[in-house]
Amino acid sequence: MKINTKLLHGYPVIDPTTGASSIPKYQASTFHQTDVFHHTGYSYTRFSNPTVEAAEDCIATLENAQYGLAFSSGMAAINAVLFLLSNGDHLVLGKNIYGGTFQTVTEFLDRFGVTYTFVDESDVVAWQEAIQPNTKMFYLESPSNPLLTITDIQEVCSLAKKHNILTACDNTFMTPLSQQPLTLGADISINSATKFINGHSDVVAGLLATNSESLYNTLKTHQKALGGVLGVEDAWLLLRGVKTMGLRMQQSIKNAQTIAEFLLNKKQVTKVYYPGLSTHAHHDIHMKQASDGGAVLSFELENIEQIKQLFSNCQVPIVAVSLGGVESILSYPWQMSHACMPEEERLNMGVTPTLVRLSCGIEDVEDLIEDLDKCIG
Ligand SMILES: Cc1ncc(COP(=O)(O)O)c(C=O)c1O
Repeated sequence: MKINTKLLHGYPVIDPTTGASSIPKYQASTFHQTDVFHHTGYSYTRFSNPTVEAAEDCIATLENAQYGLAFSSGMAAINAVLFLLSNGDHLVLGKNIYGGTFQTVTEFLDRFGVTYTFVDESDVVAWQEAIQPNTKMFYLESPSNPLLTITDIQEVCSLAKKHNILTACDNTFMTPLSQQPLTLGADISINSATKFINGHSDVVAGLLATNSESLYNTLKTHQKALGGVLGVEDAWLLLRGVKTMGLRMQQSIKNAQTIAEFLLNKKQVTKVYYPGLSTHAHHDIHMKQASDGGAVLSFELENIEQIKQLFSNCQVPIVAVSLGGVESILSYPWQMSHACMPEEERLNMGVTPTLVRLSCGIEDVEDLIEDLDKCIG
């Protein structure tokens, strides 16, 4: 089955009880049992719910995985994964990482006796050198947020396997439609479904996929015990949003590639970060593991005045924190996605006060370019 067919027919989309053409919102916290020793397979929505389960089957299908799990946010999914670490374990992760993940690692893991090392994510040798006898997990994000740095997923995962280390990969930027971490050797693929998978900037959700039964069982227990399960209404919206994901991504990716090429030629733009450009430092590695450059790019302007001018005057993209909507979203990592990191850390990783991130939506690209051209000057 090819992807656009899969998005419409590759997981439960029809209600088995009524034949309804979309899985209904089973808006119930609990389920009646005709006798106390048996239930229908559903007892309490924090444990399982048919609407949420359909979203879990959906991510399993998209990631070519055996198992899927749905959470109340990308961060709830990430934290369920980090909860696999125990006192005495060591974690290795890229230094360019989503701000929320950075915050969990640096503010909470210490308290649980878990140590960690940040490495240059694009340098496989750095991953190797960071391994300690107690290293339990490699945590990857490729491309990274917001600088679109690239990790060779296959190389890093195969290194991890040799040392019996688990690998978890945040796939939010590429989505399973363009990159499949499990096929590249990762044990767990993570998606903030708040972004492209739902695609309409109206849901906060997180999804995990894995092929390991034992990991699934443990992560399912984390979902249940930590309580960050996806709500029924949000699962239903996600299932509606995902049906058009193929067409949405096609247009968004095409727009991103065109805009990245346009920005390269603007004098006021001092750097463009987009792995779909042949000028990107790790374009070849990225194109080996993904089918395209994705729909997010970042760029640097010359000074703060230009930043103010762009954000105050742009008419087409919305100015907001998130990414992955049908509408283009212009954001300012310095004070938005990465604001929870200390200033020094932000500067170390290249998140500067003149950096802009653009998540490309499905608008006509001519309108986006005209707007950017006018506002950048
Ligand atoms: C790469 C990445 N991972 C994870 C998250 C967290 O997702 P959520 O906001 O759904 O918790 C984000 C949010 O921006 C993100 O960009």
